[in-house]
Amino acid sequence: MEFSIAVLPGDGVGPEITAEGVKVLKAVAEKFSHQLRFRDGLIGAAAFEQVGEALSEKTIETCRACDAVFFGAVGDPKYEQPNLKVRPELGYGIIRLRKIFGLFANLRPVRLFPSLVNSGNLKPEVLKGVDFIIVRELTGGIYFAEPKQLFRTPEGRRAVDTLAYTEEEIRRIVRVGFELARSRRKKLTSVDKFQILRSSDLWREIAMEVASEYPDVEVEYALVDSCAMRFIQNPRDFDVLVMENLFGDILSDEASMLAGSLGMMPSASLAGIPKEGSRLFGLYEPIHGSAPLLAGMNTANPIATILSAAMMLRYSLGLLKEARWVEDTVARVLEEGYRTDDIMSEGKTKLGTREMGDLISNRILQDHQP
Ligand code: IPM
Ligand code: MG
Repeated sequence: MEFSIAVLPGDGVGPEITAEGVKVLKAVAEKFSHQLRFRDGLIGAAAFEQVGEALSEKTIETCRACDAVFFGAVGDPKYEQPNLKVRPELGYGIIRLRKIFGLFANLRPVRLFPSLVNSGNLKPEVLKGVDFIIVRELTGGIYFAEPKQLFRTPEGRRAVDTLAYTEEEIRRIVRVGFELARSRRKKLTSVDKFQILRSSDLWREIAMEVASEYPDVEVEYALVDSCAMRFIQNPRDFDVLVMENLFGDILSDEASMLAGSLGMMPSASLAGIPKEGSRLFGLYEPIHGSAPLLAGMNTANPIATILSAAMMLRYSLGLLKEARWVEDTVARVLEEGYRTDDIMSEGKTKLGTREMGDLISNRILQDHQP
């Protein structure tokens, strides 16, 4: 089959990790005889420096012409100093891309590879068997709703953000949660701040309505603060969680510690509800940022990006066997003791970004089942 993929490496470690992701996708294409065409696009500080804006029309057009977008990271401390004359809003580029392409469904799987059970900061008995997925609403809520503004008043400055959701926005993301739960262990946790936020009251009401369409899925309604606690207390409690934009942003970084490292957390942002056999436009990125301190050092963990590539194979290209092949290969090299710096522990073999990408793509090309 033939597909085209927009590659937006961005800043910091972005170019290094996307290069490894592309390497893995090329190995998959070769092994399974698919045609993948890659088209590069500028984003973030890299774009600002070359074309004067963090997200240009040209990049948007490149994405539009492709089946999926493969995204690295944006952000550069050079532009975070407060006294700069022109300050590009680098995070804004990715936020806009999500909005422009209607990528409302953000999937963030939190899976602990068994061989990493001793490499995190948490006790193995807490971590063992963690396997859940956060479904984060991505194009609404407090990130986008108006008013969103800084006011200068005689009494001083005052800033406002608005948390607003329409019932349709809630319904479609809750459906994503139910559909995924149905394909997994059939348990959904709908996360909110019920009775404090009006948007959460509506969220719970809609979630209850949608629940009646999925009698085979067990639902629980949980408060966001309590969820934050339960992630550490007993993360095996969860299968699929669905929540609004900012809650998902915060809880997914917390959850990354359950997967061993932020460098192990992939994501997919989809423009529809994934169902068996569907092919959706999507953007795929590791959940970590540009990690400027690691840039150019060949130490960043490319696995979050490689697992994001696997998600692309699954959700946008409909290549399920290939997606599993990549994930199983990652599991295997971890079992064999290969690690990047962030997940390194005693007695294991440390690899750089490139070496990890090489190892995984070479293994993919080997004939036998990983
Ligand atoms: C994420 C990031 C982004 C977000 C930033 C870079 C704008 O933290 O994808 O989780 O807040 O959504
Ligand atoms: Mg975040």
